[in-house]
Amino acid sequence: MSQSMPPSDSLAEGSVESHPFLNKPGTKIQGLFDEIAPRYDLLNRILSFNIDVWWRKRAVRSLRLKPGDKILDACCGTGDLSMAALTAEPGIDVVGSDFSLQMLLNGDRKRRYKSGIERGPKLIQADTLNLPFQDDTFDGAMVAFGMRNVSDLPAALRELSRVMKPGGRLMILEFTPMTHRWLRPFSDWYQGKILPLLGNLLSGSRVKAYSYLDESVKDWPDGDRFAEIIRATPFHAVRWRSLFPGNVAVHEAVNG
Ligand SMILES: C[S@@+](CC[C@H](N)C(=O)[O-])C[C@H]1O[C@@H](n2cnc3c(N)ncnc32)[C@H](O)[C@@H]1O
Repeated sequence: MSQSMPPSDSLAEGSVESHPFLNKPGTKIQGLFDEIAPRYDLLNRILSFNIDVWWRKRAVRSLRLKPGDKILDACCGTGDLSMAALTAEPGIDVVGSDFSLQMLLNGDRKRRYKSGIERGPKLIQADTLNLPFQDDTFDGAMVAFGMRNVSDLPAALRELSRVMKPGGRLMILEFTPMTHRWLRPFSDWYQGKILPLLGNLLSGSRVKAYSYLDESVKDWPDGDRFAEIIRATPFHAVRWRSLFPGNVAVHEAVNG
């Protein structure tokens, strides 16, 4: 898979039109993450002030992991959510799937140089809309900052449900409109101005990946609306809560 994008995908500096990837064309999104993969983790740490590490750690608690559980980390990227789950419960088996080969390769490389955890996830290149697993394979499934990027959200949820056992727990960690009204002006300024500026600069993204991040977050449903979307699929017992500082939500649900 190539890391370079065709010139027609490059965005003009200062472009005011909405990002051309906002309708989530699969191959373009895959290319976008292939492009930013080498600096993805570093930029997460810088742009979130390291809070993203804590978000994943808190979010995996919703799965109530037990030794022996087989867990899917869909849209796993470089595998940070998988590692948070394995740190919380080393007795589980985690399969991480993602369609960006470069994200998977960077995750694999990172784990080889990091010690402290015995086993990593098994990584598989796959589209979340068409997972290469049999029905009822997993005891639970989780997705961090991935669902916002899929082209067909209900179809992705149905596909996750298919590969999960009935009664299995689903956890989705995703950005959400700032829940604290008094923080909204700062949050809008940071997400709309600072994050795209720094992100595009530091990643060197020709497709302005961090402008896409800002716009895709603005385009994403709020917590209640996303809960309704999940309820319209085979999942039930849907609940959600926001995490500090209020711009991230954890949705949890039970399959079947
Ligand atoms: C923002 S990253 C999140 C990565 C990781 N979960 C994390 O917490 O850092 C989104 C990931 O979703 C993947 N992705 C987006 N749409 C996908 C799809 N339809 N199938 C598989 N992976 C997808 C991208 O390749 C990317 O690695």
